[in-house]
Amino acid sequence: MNNAAADMTTSQAGSIKPIFARAKNVTVGYPGEIIVEGINFELPQGQAMALIGTNGSGKTTLLKTSVGLIPPLGGDLTVFNTKPGNSARRIAYLGQFHNAGFILPLRALDVVRMGRFPLHGLVGKMNAADNEMVKSAMHTMGIEKQADTPLRFLSGGQQQRVYLAQVLAHHADLLVLDEPTSGLDAAGRELYLHAMNDEMCRGASIIVATHDIQEEAALCQQIMLLAHKVVAFGPPQQVLNSETLLETFGIVIGKDQKRPAVLECAHGHDTEPAIQAKVKGRKFWMR
Ligand SMILES: Nc1ncnc2c1ncn2[C@@H]1O[C@H](COP(=O)(O)OP(=O)(O)O)[C@@H](O)[C@H]1O
Ligand SMILES: [Mg+2]
Repeated sequence: MNNAAADMTTSQAGSIKPIFARAKNVTVGYPGEIIVEGINFELPQGQAMALIGTNGSGKTTLLKTSVGLIPPLGGDLTVFNTKPGNSARRIAYLGQFHNAGFILPLRALDVVRMGRFPLHGLVGKMNAADNEMVKSAMHTMGIEKQADTPLRFLSGGQQQRVYLAQVLAHHADLLVLDEPTSGLDAAGRELYLHAMNDEMCRGASIIVATHDIQEEAALCQQIMLLAHKVVAFGPPQQVLNSETLLETFGIVIGKDQKRPAVLECAHGHDTEPAIQAKVKGRKFWMR
């Protein structure tokens, strides 16, 4: 792992970690349309940050900006201490939508092997170590038996596992994942969480966009709540509270639950018996 170009931070445990991505007062959006402004974060090596928000809140826009697919509209965004997009080989990006398997006659194995392309190029020869990484990534996501199956014959969840295996095969320093668990069953989600833990343990950092508060709160050291603006940013225990979730989703979490549980807005059903919380004068109960 090449840390030479990264600047440093001191972790809570006192160890010095390079900063892999940093935003200072960044604005993201499209020509003539600001989507989110005032974005500030520092992502050290080996840590994960979740972007959480409803559809259209700006998660994908920020991820695409972080990997250099669209330019920031303002502020200072650096990845590995340089402009986003200058370090493509070190970044594994999982987009929200995939269609290559429908355009090209690809097998699952071919798609996972693409995870090694950033290191060898399209025509570069894969060696035994590459093949081992591809095999191991498929095993990690539980899709080794589907290796020779054309991608279009796999279910949506199986395809998502294939694309996650592609990300793992890359052995990237930064994983940028857009709704990685969409379509995954419970077993697939477990495999994903284990895999992400392993990625962080080997020193990779992760930026992940999701709707799933519970899953990502367990995985990520930092959470950014988005609603066309930054509602809150920081460690999960600081950021996830009734007020911020109300602002982000129009819902709140139950304070008495062992894990955060989504409570639904009462919508005026005053006869509902099990009211769990009252925030800003509005009633909520367990979904
Ligand atoms: N290419 C684009 N040009 C202009 N606006 C866009 C484009 N893509 C997305 N948007 C708008 O940006 C906003 C945020 O979208 P997005 O970042 O995809 O949200 P999320 O990933 O949180 O669902 C939405 O209002 C969406 O309509
Ligand atoms: Mg999105």
